[in-house]
Amino acid sequence: MDNKELIKLALEARQMAYVPYSKYMVGAALLTKQGKVYKGCNIENAAYTPTNCAERTAFFKAVSEGEREFDAIAIVGGYKGNPTDYAYPCGVCRQVMMEFCNPEKFRVITAISEEQYLEQTLAEMLPHGFGPKNL
Ligand code: THU
Repeated sequence: MDNKELIKLALEARQMAYVPYSKYMVGAALLTKQGKVYKGCNIENAAYTPTNCAERTAFFKAVSEGEREFDAIAIVGGYKGNPTDYAYPCGVCRQVMMEFCNPEKFRVITAISEEQYLEQTLAEMLPHGFGPKNL
């Protein structure tokens, strides 16, 4: 699957965002090494802290279905679904990626549209990250 296809699925996922408080909609599409995609959106909560980011929704869906090996994630964000800038994953989501992904190989695609996107490795996003190899 190419980056454009993965971004398209992240854009689809963003439509499902449940964001009555921030109105900031995020969608993610997580690609497994076998080529399967798990989509996720952010899910907010009246008590605020139970809010789950789109990236973690995608990871937890995949891991809870038995997936353990991942290739890439595409992320799209934007206030009321209208992106003006790249939506980078928060620190907590980067740490969750660190648990399941090879930081030198896992690709994080931050996109504004299918045509406009950036690609970085997890190691570039989370330098000197702490992961399973450290224990
Ligand atoms: N959010 C994500 O879904 N992913 C991130 O990496 C950053 C933040 C969500 C959480 C909350 O619903 C909204 O964006 C504003 O913080």
